[in-house]
Amino acid sequence: MKLVGLVGWRGMVGSVLMQRMQEEDDFVHIEPVFFSTSNTGGQAPAMAKNEKTLKDANNIDELKKCDIIITCQGGDYTNAVFPQLRAAGWNGHWIDAASSLRMNDDAVIVLDPVNLPVIKDALVKGQKNWIGGNCTVSCMLMGVGALYKAGLVEWMSTQTYQAASGGGAQHMRELLTQYGSLNAEVRALLDDPKSAILEIDRKIIAKQRSFSDAETANFGVPLGGSLIPWIDKDLGDGMSKEEWKGMAETNKILGQGEAFGSQAVPVDGFCIRIGAMRCHSQALTFKLKKDVPVADIEAMIAADNEWVKVVPNTREDSIRDLTPVAVTGTMTIPVGRIRKLAMGPEYVGAFTVGDQLLWGAAEPLRRMLRILID
Ligand code: HSE
Repeated sequence: MKLVGLVGWRGMVGSVLMQRMQEEDDFVHIEPVFFSTSNTGGQAPAMAKNEKTLKDANNIDELKKCDIIITCQGGDYTNAVFPQLRAAGWNGHWIDAASSLRMNDDAVIVLDPVNLPVIKDALVKGQKNWIGGNCTVSCMLMGVGALYKAGLVEWMSTQTYQAASGGGAQHMRELLTQYGSLNAEVRALLDDPKSAILEIDRKIIAKQRSFSDAETANFGVPLGGSLIPWIDKDLGDGMSKEEWKGMAETNKILGQGEAFGSQAVPVDGFCIRIGAMRCHSQALTFKLKKDVPVADIEAMIAADNEWVKVVPNTREDSIRDLTPVAVTGTMTIPVGRIRKLAMGPEYVGAFTVGDQLLWGAAEPLRRMLRILID
């Protein structure tokens, strides 16, 4: 059995990964070694088999013993440890949730229901670095990857509605704390059915504008009852890093673009943080290379993988099945609102939602592990 080192398994993405690995009996097929950055020698979790104590996640000699390492510890850890490990001659498989290595030529962005051929090709070439994709990109491709696979997409524009969890656990707490203080601010007025709505509104905006630095420590500005039209770094050319990832990662996942000697499909749009907890949603606009009937588009999307679900484009179905509340905690990737747009027969709109911690983070990693060990 392969010795599999697990790093960052206690954090938010790591915890979701552990849960999914237990649900899918992954631990039956591996010999796990649990690492820690803060509790070396402590007790490993219940899934431990022979190695019951936590190893030091910064100890290169301990890490080197592993055939495979999966890390959800974050980019700083990857930047610090991965080069040392390779420099020490370690030749194992590195599976990583962080973005640090994603665009390296010797790294594959893993999303096997979409790019198994790219993964298999890299395996044949002896590649060893398997990196999870940006959550928005992975969830989008799980939904509409069929259109890309069929070579139908001339370009795509995406407008995202990204959940607090994309920032991290503290961001989710901050969002809820903000909602709580807003509610507390007007609770008495809400309880009085005769109170004036504009008075409630005035108090809410005054509260939002006077949030303390502590109340906006993670997002920097209020998110509860508002939105933030920028995610990740400012690249200095008017684009956010999250927006840049859309095109770069979509094409890399699909094994196309300059690095693969082919033309990249343009993907661009705006990435927006909204007050949802852990599901990222996206409104997509496609320019297809030809006029394809909506029924054919729906059939292609529905047949692409076992998790995608086409939601009929009706009000009732959309508000019930195409929301973060409906999707959170599930593996389902609904795609709905599929319709031709007024710009012409090749222009198609769609809306999709995905759990940012499942398909957006943990699931592609554990599936890559299974590809390596099965
Ligand atoms: N960058 C994403 C977000 C998270 O902030 O929502 C994970 O890719």
